[in-house]
Amino acid sequence: MKDINEHNILTEIGQLLIEYRNTQNSSDRLLDYIKPGALSDELNLVKDTVGDWQAVYQWIEQYLQHSVRTGHPGFVNRMWAEPNLPSIIGEFVATVAQTSGCTYESAPVAVLIEKYMFATMLELAGFEHGEAQMTTGSSNANMIALLAARNNINQNFKQQGMRNSPELVAFVSADAHYSLDKAANVIGLGSDNLIKVPINAAGEMDPAELSALLIDATSKGQLPFFVCGTAGTTVRGAYDPIPALLMLREQYGFWLHIDAAWGGSAMLDPALRARFMPEVERVDSLTWDFHKMLGASLMCNILMFNSDQHHLSQSCGAGDGSYLFRETDADTIIDPGLSSLQCGRRVDALKWFLDWKFYGQQGLAKRVNRFLSLAKYIETKIQNSDVLELMAPRQSFNLCFRYNDNSTTNLDSLNQSLRTSLYQEGKSLVGMAWINDAMVLRWLSSNPNLSHASIDIFIEELESAGKELASSSMN
Ligand SMILES: Cc1ncc(COP(=O)(O)O)c(C=O)c1O
Repeated sequence: MKDINEHNILTEIGQLLIEYRNTQNSSDRLLDYIKPGALSDELNLVKDTVGDWQAVYQWIEQYLQHSVRTGHPGFVNRMWAEPNLPSIIGEFVATVAQTSGCTYESAPVAVLIEKYMFATMLELAGFEHGEAQMTTGSSNANMIALLAARNNINQNFKQQGMRNSPELVAFVSADAHYSLDKAANVIGLGSDNLIKVPINAAGEMDPAELSALLIDATSKGQLPFFVCGTAGTTVRGAYDPIPALLMLREQYGFWLHIDAAWGGSAMLDPALRARFMPEVERVDSLTWDFHKMLGASLMCNILMFNSDQHHLSQSCGAGDGSYLFRETDADTIIDPGLSSLQCGRRVDALKWFLDWKFYGQQGLAKRVNRFLSLAKYIETKIQNSDVLELMAPRQSFNLCFRYNDNSTTNLDSLNQSLRTSLYQEGKSLVGMAWINDAMVLRWLSSNPNLSHASIDIFIEELESAGKELASSSMN
């Protein structure tokens, strides 16, 4: 057994992490699945290990041993996978330094880096006089955008609440992320006033339906103040049509927010941007997660506002923070904490900065294009399979499909068992979702270790496990 003490623990853990990371891709199994009760017994979390560095090391060994290997090419479940190395370094350093990206005074480099990344990302989006904030993720960012749009209706809402408010209504597509429902609750809009706009066959918000709903709302005396289009929906990967939404904004004057948490990475490549997010430079706000397709370590997000009206600080700032914020450098440095809903703020900017500097826009754009071509590759494999069927036309980086060899009508249950068995055997973890009451397997292109070969294996394992399950269910 290694002698672990406070002097060598960081080095030893570092070694463990290097081994873990190096075997992610080559490791045979996605995880060694153990049922919760047995894992709980094995971990023995109640064990007393006060002052024991050896035990700290062992806890970490166990943690890694039983983790889902998100770098395994069978991990196609979520919008993120194994993180980038520069980003991991940024994460470590931010933790070791324990800086909070709240004030320049306490985190000078972090604040300057964050400001630099704001300016760089705003320029990339084409938000000429915009402002930005790194938040805890797109769920939070969607909520802040909704809050800013609400306060934009009436500057008194912030102080007086919504007592004298007209009946506000907001619109999202029926396929929008559930964080919008949470946001409607939190900001006092009420989820009944978040109107779900039907989607078309491609899974995009249907502008004609939105138009009809806007007419209906205004005829009832309601005030449509916010529309959220999604750039890359969670299940199908559809991009809502920004130009059509902009035309409706001209007519109704609502705030147009784009939830680009998943699909915003298309902005890195001019051709993809023109194809998926035309005229994005004209929307009012946009959220984009770097921890998803681009591989920054969780969490890493930016919320951008396309205006010089200080919506962020006006919406998020409140109360007396004079114990924290200094007037002195206000002309040159505006503390990010002033326009945040948080007080302490993780330094997420450092990891994104290091990724950006290391890979560059072109390198990241190349990655996004590669993900797209891998999505096309698996689409063809599914189309050519006798036992797999596409459940929605592919829009971008997501594939929704299921196993169906026509041997059973209970396809939901078969596909659920199929997914579970592949997971428990440590072969793959694919997402699941529902489309029109049918369960679908959702495959996402976000794992840097994906290749044609790994996709071939994934499909082979899926087909053979599906055949086995289907025949055993008939016996
Ligand atoms: C379209 C969309 N918006 C928002 C979110 C939430 O993002 P976060 O996990 O960063 O809060 C997701 C997450 O999957 C998403 O797919």
